[in-house]
Amino acid sequence: MLERTLVLLKPDCVQRGLVGEVLRRFEAKGLQIAGLKMRQFPRATLEKHYEVHKERPFYGNLVKFMASGPVVAIALEGKDAIEVVRNLMGKTNSRQAAPGTIRGDLGMSFSNNLVHGSDGPESAAKELALFFGEPGELVNWTPVTQPWVYSVEEELR
Ligand code: RTP
Ligand code: MG
Repeated sequence: MLERTLVLLKPDCVQRGLVGEVLRRFEAKGLQIAGLKMRQFPRATLEKHYEVHKERPFYGNLVKFMASGPVVAIALEGKDAIEVVRNLMGKTNSRQAAPGTIRGDLGMSFSNNLVHGSDGPESAAKELALFFGEPGELVNWTPVTQPWVYSVEEELR
């Protein structure tokens, strides 16, 4: 029933000191951290991550930007986590993203838009394997708050 999704806090998020602010929003929403790491990821990893955009004109710059500094990779878990995260992120172009969303509140750019979230179950599985593929990198645990975050009877059984 619970779903996992991959979030990346992009180099602009890290450089601007917004890691805590963005992570706080996900946690406060009730999403659970299942994995967390910071790396300056190799170009090959980022090329693979964005390979669906390979033919797009912005692909080269996108990979260059993502490789330009440290990125925080986060695996988040929750009911409908993929959709919940995408809604919290807001539209791709931060200038058009609604107030209340991460991009809408914290950004001004189309490309430097702070955060990535998987866009469907297939990409989530692929991206989680790419960034958290080693044994033990994803942690199975049950927060003590779970019965308060959810109506356990209705939503998780
Ligand atoms: P993401 O994959 O990073 O979560 O973002 P998204 O789904 O909202 O947007 P997507 O269409 O998948 O684009 C991936 C990232 O490429 C950059 N981009 N730049 N300048 C441009 O026209 C352009 N279009 C896309 C953005 O960083 C976008 O998040
Ligand atoms: Mg995308």
